[in-house]
Amino acid sequence: MIFWRVKPLEKILETAEKKSLTRQLGAVQLTLLGVGAVIGTGIFVLTAEAGQKAGPGMMIAFVIAATVCGLAALAYSELASMVPVSGSAYTYTYGVLGELIAWIVGWALGLEYGIGAATVSVGWSGYMNGLLDNATLFGLVQPGTLALPEFLRTGLFAGGTFNLLAFLISFVVTGLLLIGTSKSAKVNAVLVAIKIVALIMFIAIALPAAAGHSGNFTPFLPGGWGSPLGGVGVLGAAASIFFAYVGFDAISTAAEETKNPNRNIPIGLIGSLLICTVFYLLVGYSAVGAVGAQPVLGADGLPMEPGSAAFAAACKGSEALVCSHEPLAHVLRLLGHPALGNWIGIAAILALPSVVLMMMFGQTRVFFTMSRDGLLPEVLSRVHPRFHTPHVITLITGLVVAFCSALLPVGKLADTSNSGTLLAFAMVSIGVLILRKQQPNRHRPFRTPFAWIVCPLAVAGCLLLFVNLSMTAKLVFAGWAVLGLVIYRLYGYRRSLLAQETAG
Ligand code: ALA
Repeated sequence: MIFWRVKPLEKILETAEKKSLTRQLGAVQLTLLGVGAVIGTGIFVLTAEAGQKAGPGMMIAFVIAATVCGLAALAYSELASMVPVSGSAYTYTYGVLGELIAWIVGWALGLEYGIGAATVSVGWSGYMNGLLDNATLFGLVQPGTLALPEFLRTGLFAGGTFNLLAFLISFVVTGLLLIGTSKSAKVNAVLVAIKIVALIMFIAIALPAAAGHSGNFTPFLPGGWGSPLGGVGVLGAAASIFFAYVGFDAISTAAEETKNPNRNIPIGLIGSLLICTVFYLLVGYSAVGAVGAQPVLGADGLPMEPGSAAFAAACKGSEALVCSHEPLAHVLRLLGHPALGNWIGIAAILALPSVVLMMMFGQTRVFFTMSRDGLLPEVLSRVHPRFHTPHVITLITGLVVAFCSALLPVGKLADTSNSGTLLAFAMVSIGVLILRKQQPNRHRPFRTPFAWIVCPLAVAGCLLLFVNLSMTAKLVFAGWAVLGLVIYRLYGYRRSLLAQETAG
């Protein structure tokens, strides 16, 4: 039976009291955390990846990904408001589907948040490199003087050698996280404002430029809808651009640090997702309409694989949107606004680290909670005496994120992160239904509307996107899952606090 060792929800709430973090976040702060975690590399960078897979049809990809996320957010809100403790989907599944499934979900969340942080770090480096390429320091130097050498601009598996800037930003963010949540949240509020202003500026310039360019929308589906192997077409683009919406669930990992979580968590989750969806659709439409988004085609006449060495070579010297590592800045430059292009670059450079921060925050809190439950070594839930942060897991996470971001291409990282997210979302949606059956009378501060339609649709949506991820991501996911199961069998299965308490 796989639904074993189900942790009673009362017990989950009780454990959280024992080793708890301070409740200091309110509704507005939480929504800002959500928007801060959601708007990032997805819209600022992966727009190019989506264009390479789907062409102008990426507009549909944005809608598909938003729909799946919206369905999952409704399910998330129900569980997150019922179980307002640290650990998100991991904790919920522990209380509903039992320890084994909870372990798998927690382990998958590690992939989501950890690799997600690396993805955003790489996205950040694209804009930073772009700015260094174009910087003149108010006329003191020629453009290009400050540019990094080619081999330090992208990772070994992305056509370069070592992505120095992505590596460095991961370390800076690790330092911020070590100092503590509340300081980071305040900084985050300012950075969210910067991102919103940058996107509004982009839309204000690119949307009018899109008018009268209906030719930029044809052919609309140069990559088709998709393939059974995934990684191409509209569905492949949706599976990647899904990353742009991920992060609202990181709010629920902060539940234990939230005031009045029953009310504030649903507000934060759904509110931030809605705000972001509106922005993305406007940005996507404006970018496609203004400069076009046709993919670079290979010798076979099909879109080349983004992130591959061949694609990087074909893109050398190209002005195409799909080739850019800083697509939004690139669009403004192509439209004849180089200074505004630099400004949007500066906004991304200032703001994306807050997304890295939220992702790493999520990662550390999930493994913190798993360690507190005895499923991972106790040392990981040690709290720093002065900063009150889980410093050990934060440092380990920082190292892994730094090396992944230094070596791997942004699209593959995003897909891999998405694989973990999709599993977690599907499990949460299933969990809502099981709990409705098992404990129909339990108090639900937020109820998923039409749960018996919404949750199955969420699961189907997650499955559809998962199948359409790139093959690399699916293989990494499988390897990560096997490794996780081995670790669970050798460690967590025996050391589980729940098992010990039940036995004793
Ligand atoms: N949604 C976040 C981003 O796009 C993770 O960077």
